[in-house]
Amino acid sequence: MIRLDKYLCDCLGISRKEAKELVKTGSVRIGGSVCKNEGFKLNEETDTVTVKGNECRYQRYRYYMLNKPAGVITATVDPVDKTVMELVDIVNKKDFFPVGRLDKDTVGLLIITNDGELAHKLLSPKYHVDKTYLVEAESELTDADISKLENGVDIGDDKVTMPASVQRVESKKIRLTIREGRYHQVKRMLEAVGNKVIYLKRLSFGAVWLDDKLEEGEFRELTSEETESLKGN
Ligand code: URA
Repeated sequence: MIRLDKYLCDCLGISRKEAKELVKTGSVRIGGSVCKNEGFKLNEETDTVTVKGNECRYQRYRYYMLNKPAGVITATVDPVDKTVMELVDIVNKKDFFPVGRLDKDTVGLLIITNDGELAHKLLSPKYHVDKTYLVEAESELTDADISKLENGVDIGDDKVTMPASVQRVESKKIRLTIREGRYHQVKRMLEAVGNKVIYLKRLSFGAVWLDDKLEEGEFRELTSEETESLKGN
């Protein structure tokens, strides 16, 4: 059961104030009858709600992709730096958070959601989500370096990194897909082969790929297909 005003916010991505206004003006019907009580408790699974004649589809959770720019930190609040949450204009923002983290100087795909359970699952070390990065290194990467990155390297933790896949783009550029999310993992992997990352961009997270129409700093909601693929469906 859920309050009508909260239900409308979740369905329509509107503010509580806007939801109250819709109810007050008689635009909302539950099971065909006008309801002017914003606190009315309804069953989000079974009740049919219409707003100005259009049926609502209840959506408790929302999922966004942000093309993170450099210089912004992956956190919900920070006393000094600008955070990724300051770049997204979404209703009920306090319920949202980034899934995992990208370093301040890393750019690219970051998922932002209010679905804690899914985020927890995706970040769990047991649940290996593929993440593809475009990596630009300071010096040339030899075929031997690439084999080492693919087979696993010692980055100073108890275990070497899991097998990764690497595609060469240019002599100093690769696409690297890893299945773990250790702290500074890509930078430490490049250090393990005597090199250094000078540019890092995340291109994918699980089955979701960064939309190349998004400029750095822009975001959009995931499509239902992307959301389903993120959930592994
Ligand atoms: N690996 C890194 O080293 N940094 C990131 O931001 C992401 C992966």
